[in-house]
Parts: sequence; structure tokens; C-alpha cells
Amino acid sequence: MKPVRWPNCFSIEQLEKRHNRADFHSGVDVVDEWLKKRARQAQTKRLSITRILLKEPNTIAGYYTLAMGQVNFDELPHELVKTLPGTLLPIVTLAWLGLDKRFQGQGHGERLLAQAFADCHRTGHMMPFVAVLLDCATKSAKTFYQRYDFEELPGHPMTLMLSWKLLNCMMSG
Ligand SMILES: CC(C)(COP(=O)(O)OP(=O)(O)OC[C@H]1O[C@@H](n2cnc3c(N)ncnc32)[C@H](O)[C@@H]1OP(=O)(O)O)[C@@H](O)C(=O)NCCC(=O)NCCS
Repeated sequence: MKPVRWPNCFSIEQLEKRHNRADFHSGVDVVDEWLKKRARQAQTKRLSITRILLKEPNTIAGYYTLAMGQVNFDELPHELVKTLPGTLLPIVTLAWLGLDKRFQGQGHGERLLAQAFADCHRTGHMMPFVAVLLDCATKSAKTFYQRYDFEELPGHPMTLMLSWKLLNCMMSG
């Protein structure tokens, strides 16, 4: 996967209090509410980190939220865990990702996902995890993510997974 290149007027920053979240509308209420009401608090409590796609001078065009987590080995596909201990296993959650409606359909969603993958990959060299998991807010979001090698978690149709092994191949290829 190639390094993410953003047009000049865009940058990626960690969410801060000064960023104007009120005008963000992705078309999916839960995605907007997370950014507006909960993302900053969760970050302050060190539960997750939200990075925004900022369009100069102060418009949030998109965002994603990453968190560390754990899942029981028996919730992951057999192929992934067959050589792993039968315990809780470390994962990263891509908890949220969204583009403001004004910026959808221009390839920014794909770039934002690639940026989130790159963050996960960098982290994975210092803090190991076995997979990236994500919960799809809508069926449409699931269709979008399934374009990018995520597979469904057995028994959890709205949760998708990308193994570290596959992520590593994608980032190295
Ligand atoms: C889903 C979302 C992130 C996609 O972002 P986007 O910027 O519109 O998508 P892109 O322009 O990068 O599209 C990249 C490719 O995915 C396709 N695509 C976009 N949305 C899609 C969807 N919902 N289902 C299937 N394919 C989709 C595009 O057609 C494009 O394909 P192409 O390269 O063959 O033309 C965006 O529509 C969004 O924020 N939606 C509302 C919030 C949401 O659902 N978030 C995810 C759940 S947390």
C-alpha cells in the first residue's frame, strides 16, 4: 500500500478542543454524535485517539478513532488463532471513521482508511496485536469496508477483521 498523500489544503491532526465539530455531518447520526460529544472525552481518558482530516483553515472533513482492545481467542477465526494461546488476545479497534457529506465520494474515505491502517501498522511494531477489528455502523459502511480485505467475524455479521499478518503484507507490498 502506498503512503497516503493528501491534497495541499488537507492535513491529519489529533482532535483538539479548538477544532470545530459542530458543522460535521456524515449522514449517519451515531458517527456524528461520537465526534461531537464523546471523542474528546474518550481521548482525555486515554481510551481512544481520534485523528481528523482537517481542511484549511478549520473544517473537519473526516475523522477516525482507534483504540486498543482485547477479544477472547474463541471469537476470532480458527485459522488465525490455531497456534495462539486460548486467552484474551490483543487487538486494535477501528472504532469510528467518517467523512463529512461535502467531502464524500472523492476518494477521501479510502485515503482515511489507508491512514488508519498506517497508524495501526506503525503501532503494531511497538505494541503487538493480532488483528484490527471494526464494528460497522450501517450495512452500507460494511460494503465499503469489505472492499479492503476485511473479513466477517464468525457469528458477528457487523464486525469485520483484518489480521496483523494481512495488514503487514498490505503495508509492505
Ligand atoms: C463510508 C464512507 C467513509 C466512504 O467514504 P467516501 O469518501 O465517500 O468513499 P471514497 O470516495 O473514498 O470511495 C472509495 C471507493 O469506495 C466506494 N464506496 C464508497 N462508499 C461505499 C459504500 N458505502 N459501499 C460500497 N462502496 C463504497 C467508492 O465508489 C469508491 O470506489 P471506486 O474507487 O471504485 O470508485 C463515507 O461515505 C462516510 O463517511 N459515510 C458515513 C459514515 C459511515 O458510514 N462511516 C463508517 C462507519 S463507522
